Amino acid sequence: MPEAISLTQFLIEEQRARQHLPADLRLLIEVVARACKRISIAVGKGALGGVLGDAGTGNVQGEAQKKLDVLSNEILLQANAWGGHLAACASEEMEDPQPIPDVYPKGNYLLLFDPLDGSSNIDVNISVGTIFSVLHCPDDVTHPAAEHFLQPGTAQVAAGYAVYGPSTVLVLTLGHGTHVFTLDRELGSFILTTRNVRIPADTKEFAINMSNRRHWDAPVQRYIDELLAGRDGPRGKDYNMRWVASMVADVHRILTRGGVFLYPWDRKEPDKPGKLRLMYEANPMAFIVEEAGGAATTGRERILDLVPTALHQRVPVFLGSKNEVDVATRYHLDADEAR
Ligand code: AHG
Repeated sequence: MPEAISLTQFLIEEQRARQHLPADLRLLIEVVARACKRISIAVGKGALGGVLGDAGTGNVQGEAQKKLDVLSNEILLQANAWGGHLAACASEEMEDPQPIPDVYPKGNYLLLFDPLDGSSNIDVNISVGTIFSVLHCPDDVTHPAAEHFLQPGTAQVAAGYAVYGPSTVLVLTLGHGTHVFTLDRELGSFILTTRNVRIPADTKEFAINMSNRRHWDAPVQRYIDELLAGRDGPRGKDYNMRWVASMVADVHRILTRGGVFLYPWDRKEPDKPGKLRLMYEANPMAFIVEEAGGAATTGRERILDLVPTALHQRVPVFLGSKNEVDVATRYHLDADEAR
């Protein structure tokens, strides 16, 4: 039997072999992974842990918070406060970044996270997850504010997500491929289960919330209508649809067997550029997907090239198998040109 490689061992080997991984970044990833284990335990207890249901509060986006949203946020904040690797954290659940308290040593990194993605699935026992992104804190900034987080996705030094499903899986990129670790619950360790995962360029599977169809823009309607037309339509093959409503679960399926995920702008809330947040959902997922050979755009531009303007900025998201993302993106650019 091949030797099981733990996350710790993988990170130490990366540090030795490639020298692109500073020790404090390695330790930061370990702290985040440990926090994900704690969240996994809380998710796994379900009703027995008293963690289901609404917290009775709202977050900065005006969304009702679940108890697990609040708990996961606290777990990530507490785990990262004292380690000495971070200058500040920003979260979907908090309006402003949280600096590391002065009693603790400060580090050189900024951590952004969506502590519990897919909150509507918590109470119905469907996979949810955590998404995170790591940036450098600009030099000479001792008390980072929101503006210091506003770096393009290309500046990310690490990104990852955990899916709390039948098994707990951690997916990580440090900019040299995307790697999958599965939590061995008996050992309490994440074990490397796929090194350098690759997303097939072609797929017959798409993920979109079809209930928004009447609100979509013309290029999205065209793209999805062509997929639905199947082998008799212009794409010449039948497509299947999946929609978990937890981005982590949909992206993980795409990472495992290919597919395309779309959350476009729509007319339901025309003032919002999209539903998903750039800094702690779209950027880390785009980094992970690109490092696995896939593509990620807004329908017009590469997500990782966007220059952020606000911490909680929203964007349209098209990501996954490269050839499908390319078609959907081309339809937007063609429509723009024809205007
Ligand atoms: P949240 O974590 O705030 O519940 O948002 C979930 C996100 C994303 O994970 C998922 O793909 C999408 O919202 C689902 O949106 P719909 O409910 O509109 O399908």
